[in-house]
Formats: sequence, C-alpha cells, structure tokens
Amino acid sequence: MKKAVEEYILPKNFKLNWFPGHMAKTYRVLPEAMKKVDIFLEVRDSRIPISSGNCELDVLIPPNVKRFIFFNKFDLCDRNKTEKIVQKYLKESDNEQIRNAKYMFLSAKTGLNLKKIVDLVIRENNPKFKTVGTWCMVGGIPNVGKSTMINAFRTMSYDLKELETKKKATTGVHATTTRHIDFFKVNASPVIYIMDTPGIMQPKIYNPESGLKLSICGNIKEKIAGKEIICDYLLFHLNKENVLEYKKAFRLQNQVKDLSELLKHVMEQFKIQNSNHAFDFILKYFKDGRLGNITFDENIPKELIYMKKP
Ligand code: G4P
Repeated sequence: MKKAVEEYILPKNFKLNWFPGHMAKTYRVLPEAMKKVDIFLEVRDSRIPISSGNCELDVLIPPNVKRFIFFNKFDLCDRNKTEKIVQKYLKESDNEQIRNAKYMFLSAKTGLNLKKIVDLVIRENNPKFKTVGTWCMVGGIPNVGKSTMINAFRTMSYDLKELETKKKATTGVHATTTRHIDFFKVNASPVIYIMDTPGIMQPKIYNPESGLKLSICGNIKEKIAGKEIICDYLLFHLNKENVLEYKKAFRLQNQVKDLSELLKHVMEQFKIQNSNHAFDFILKYFKDGRLGNITFDENIPKELIYMKKP
C-alpha cells in the first residue's frame, strides 16, 4: 500500500518574497563582473539543496563560465537524503550548466572538504596561460556560508602571502593585474584568484513552501514570514522526518504535534516569559544543530528545476 504523503497546509494566499534594493543593485553589476571569471562557485545549503538555489543565476552565468555547486552546512543535514536529491536534481535539470556542474558537499564551519575545492578548481580548469591564472567568483543566496568559506580562503591566501614574502618578497595577496582588486589569490601554482559577491535572492519566490524553508534556514529574514509559522513548519518537519532530538533538547517526555503545546512546555521548562522569546529560543536551538540533522527539500518543484519560469 502506498503511504500517504503528509503535507503542510499553508495559510490561504500565503506568499513570501524578500528582495531588498541592494540586491537589485548587485544584479546590475554582476553581468560585467561575470565576464572576468572562468568558474562560478555557487554555494547552497545542504538542508535545502534545491530551494537554496537561485534560478536567476541560470541566466546570469555566461555559457562559457563553468559552474561548480557547493552544498555547504553538510554537518546539519540528513546526508543520505541530501545526496540522493542532489543527484536527482543535477540529472534532471534542463540547464546544461547544472547538469554538467561539478559539485561537492562541504562544511565551511568544520572545514569538511574545504581544501578539496582548490584541488577541484586545479583539476577542472587549465588556464591557457599559466601566469594569467584561474579566476573564480563565489556567489549564492544570503546566509549559505559564502563568507565563512571566503574567510577560510583568505586564511589560505594569507598563508600564501607569508610564504611568498619569505621566498621572494614580491607578489602580494593582490597581484598586479588588469582585473578587479576584489579578487585575491588562493593558490600560487597554478595561480587561482577568488572574488566574493553579496548574497542575492531571486526577485520572486515561486514556491511558497520553499520560502518557508528559506526562512527556517535563515536565508530570508524571520520577520517576513513571522516566527510562529516558521516554528510551526519546523515542528511539522521534525515530526514528519522522525527527527526527534527535540524531545531531549526541550526536556519533553513525548513527541508533540502541536506548536502551542511545545511553546507552553518550553516557556515553563526554560522560564521564558513571552512567546516571542520562546520562538527565538526554539529557532536558536535549531540553528545550532541541537534538534538533529534534517533535510527539508524532498520533491523538486518544477519552477525550481527548470530555467524558464512559469
Ligand atoms: P553568507 O556569507 O552566505 O551570508 O553566510 P555566512 O558565511 O555569513 O554564514 C551564515 C551563518 O552560517 C553563520 O552563522 C556561519 O557561522 C554559519 N555557517 C557557515 N557555514 C557553515 C557550516 O558549514 N556549518 C554550520 N553549521 N554553520 C555554518 P552566524 O550565526 O551568522 O554566525 P556564527 O554562528 O558563526 O557566530
């Protein structure tokens, strides 16, 4: 017998969008910057490997630029589930760049696979002229861990600078080049430069449930959807996926299905005076990975996999 799929019932006419002005500005400058790069290093969140993509990138990244996709925060997801969905997504995409994308699961915070990124870039890109080097741009939606990854690279580039200073006292982190100064060197031979970009959401979120997933994972500001519905959606998923670490974390005897029950219990147990703080408390536990490893994406909504929008 086929198991009925449990679905979260969204409030009627529920819609979520978050597209502040500075993101529109970034969209305007990106095409010019893209001309300078060989590889686009896209960062996503492993808990929402599909929903944390941005289909505007499909249009923005020129066809001659290679695309690598890094599924970060791998320490927080259900690894099996994420690996399966990523393989399916890459295989089924109608975007050649995505189908051909090299990908990797990583944790910029714990350092998992971080160094392998440089190896991958070296393996996959042979700069025509060795001195010109390989030019990479890091991008993706906000809060997926781009800065954490970039900071790790900066440390590597700092080590490199030290090394080069000791050796020749000539080349600095920012080599003299015709390209923009925002690039910094992360590898000496072959030369690799990396550039950071601000996080950009797609102007419209076509799938409202993806909007909620993005809110849980901190990619959209909590106040847009509201903490109550975010916590409700989180509890629904923890129960659905049978990720029940929350019982121990919140000192519960049994599983709870109802958010108001959880809220009342959390307020009593942890002496929290108001519900707003209790929502913050629950979300902080989730953010810190104290509620167990979970992956929210399961099916792949058409509008997230196909380049052409509905
Ligand atoms: P962004 O540039 O894409 O906007 O993301 P950023 O690096 O600022 O990372 C957003 C948050 O995600 C940070 O938490 C960061 O520590 C956390 N993070 C990044 N990579 C990983 C990862 O691989 N695993 C886990 N568990 N967390 C990761 P924060 O609360 O803003 O800062 P803090 O907790 O470091 O103080």
